[in-house]
Amino acid sequence: MTAQQPGDGSATNVAIIMDGNGRWATERGLPVLEGHRRGARTLKQTVKDAVGLGIEQLTVYAFSTENWARPRDEVAGLMEMFGKLIVSETPELHDEGVRMVFVGRRSEVSEQMQEQMAWAEAETAENPRMTLFVAFNYGGRAEILDAAERYEGGGEEAFRELLYEPEMRDPELVIRTSGEERLSNFLLWQSAYSELFFTDVLWPDFDRSTLEEALQAYASRRRRFGARE
Ligand code: IPE
Ligand code: IPE
Ligand code: MG
Repeated sequence: MTAQQPGDGSATNVAIIMDGNGRWATERGLPVLEGHRRGARTLKQTVKDAVGLGIEQLTVYAFSTENWARPRDEVAGLMEMFGKLIVSETPELHDEGVRMVFVGRRSEVSEQMQEQMAWAEAETAENPRMTLFVAFNYGGRAEILDAAERYEGGGEEAFRELLYEPEMRDPELVIRTSGEERLSNFLLWQSAYSELFFTDVLWPDFDRSTLEEALQAYASRRRRFGARE
């Protein structure tokens, strides 16, 4: 049984592991947080590009359950930046018809950010063009564990209903920037049959042409889901 059939050649559910901000900054002798700021700028543009390319669901990995292990200054700077970004960018995303949904262990982020997240979700709840899932304090294992605690049987479909956002479809394509070739605890359940695309481009340098390259690569993949053809 597969939740999704072999595609029609185009990916409409795409996930991105936005990696390489630190290296981008270090290469330029800049503080790491400057890399994150540039990465945020890239994200804004990528959301617009994704809408333009007909993507229906875009999931981005913004902060993992493991990223708390980074230096305290970096974590604090990231938290401050994310909070401000939610407030400053939600109106424009709203105008573009983007619905925002945050996935992750929300109870572990500050109350202020929880409020900002809830506000952004409420503001954009009715938007039809694209859903942007922001994985924040997200871990694939945490998501599966949280679901398992409430699971009372019923198989795959019942289990899926217990994930953070059951309406998140399995990504056909997972993109990771910066040359690292691993999932780092991202969408472990949902990416079971995803096509993976790795690029050496560092996240702040990612642009529409790299996104198109990934989508083109996807279009030439043959997905079999375990079957003979
Ligand atoms: C990804 O960039 C952003 C977050 C994890 C928040 P990194 O900060 O991991 O960049 P590198 O891997 O150090 O270059
Ligand atoms: C994954 O990148 C997390 C995000 C992009 C938010 P990391 O930089 O944290 O992953 P590792 O440590 O290289 O596996
Ligand atoms: Mg990294």
